[in-house]
Amino acid sequence: MAKYLKCVERYSTGGPVGEANWPKVGTTMVGHKRLKNIVNLLLDARAANVSGSYVECGVWRGGMSIFAKAAIEVYQMKRRVYLCDSFQGLPLPRSGSLRPDETVYTAQWVNDSLAKSEYIVTRNFGRHGVPMNGVRLVPGFFVNSLPKLRDQLKGRSERLALLRLDGDMYDATMDILYNLYDLVEVGGFVIMDDFGWAEGTNASKPSLWGAKNAVLDFRAVHKIEDHAHVFHNIDDAGAWFRKGREVTVRRRLYERGVEQGDYSALRPTPLLTAADYRRFRRKYDAHAARILPVTKVEQQS
Ligand SMILES: C[S@@+](CC[C@H](N)C(=O)[O-])C[C@H]1O[C@@H](n2cnc3c(N)ncnc32)[C@H](O)[C@@H]1O
Repeated sequence: MAKYLKCVERYSTGGPVGEANWPKVGTTMVGHKRLKNIVNLLLDARAANVSGSYVECGVWRGGMSIFAKAAIEVYQMKRRVYLCDSFQGLPLPRSGSLRPDETVYTAQWVNDSLAKSEYIVTRNFGRHGVPMNGVRLVPGFFVNSLPKLRDQLKGRSERLALLRLDGDMYDATMDILYNLYDLVEVGGFVIMDDFGWAEGTNASKPSLWGAKNAVLDFRAVHKIEDHAHVFHNIDDAGAWFRKGREVTVRRRLYERGVEQGDYSALRPTPLLTAADYRRFRRKYDAHAARILPVTKVEQQS
């Protein structure tokens, strides 16, 4: 366990200096708990016989993806891996965006540190000795690349067991959900980075986390803000839920939004407020108190 922890510390920070959120040389920025979470959910999916692939949207230097693929290899699971990223950073909020204010990520210094090429990701797989068989890099901005990936997956009747969202912004998160959510198997997992457990619950402090706004809007519009889809906290930043049933995703409205630069039809009515965010959080917390925490990685070490 000590060796494993040291290894993970170096992996996420690049050195023995504690867990950094935005490491200068580390392979991932997600931190230890979110890394362990992906292994636990891969094991849960296997235990529940949920077949299908693993998709990560938002790859950066590849750290989370490499860790997930390593777990797939170690536990001899049969899962394809799709790693979707522009490999050149984040775009500005697009015309008609429901979060036009979300420009912080595209500031030059931020985007310089987020834009990592396919070469860097491939090189990092090699550096960590993790094979890339069954791994496909899907380059491009999600709004362009994910409809094509969707068509390919549907053409092969390929389903997803785990969908991991780490695209930071509102638009990116909507692109992922409207293109891929209905391909997730019932019983499969949707994992969110940048959820921010307490974010958006304070009326006097508007939420800055567009990814959280997007996933909660999507859940409200598709009427899945219920006990079957309750969110679980990972580390106050990341969170996940299990898909409880099939829903018809309003893809036509999304496609029309992309064509016409008008996403207003994707807004929940009424709009979600800080009071709704507080109510959801209380519901998730109450649910968490009733279930035992899963700590498979520790048990198996
Ligand atoms: C927070 S980083 C991902 C962190 C990574 N999962 C890790 O293990 O550290 C966000 C990534 O999402 C990508 N991204 C954000 N918005 C995107 C979009 N609309 N299309 C494609 N890639 C996007 C960025 O290029 C960046 O690599």
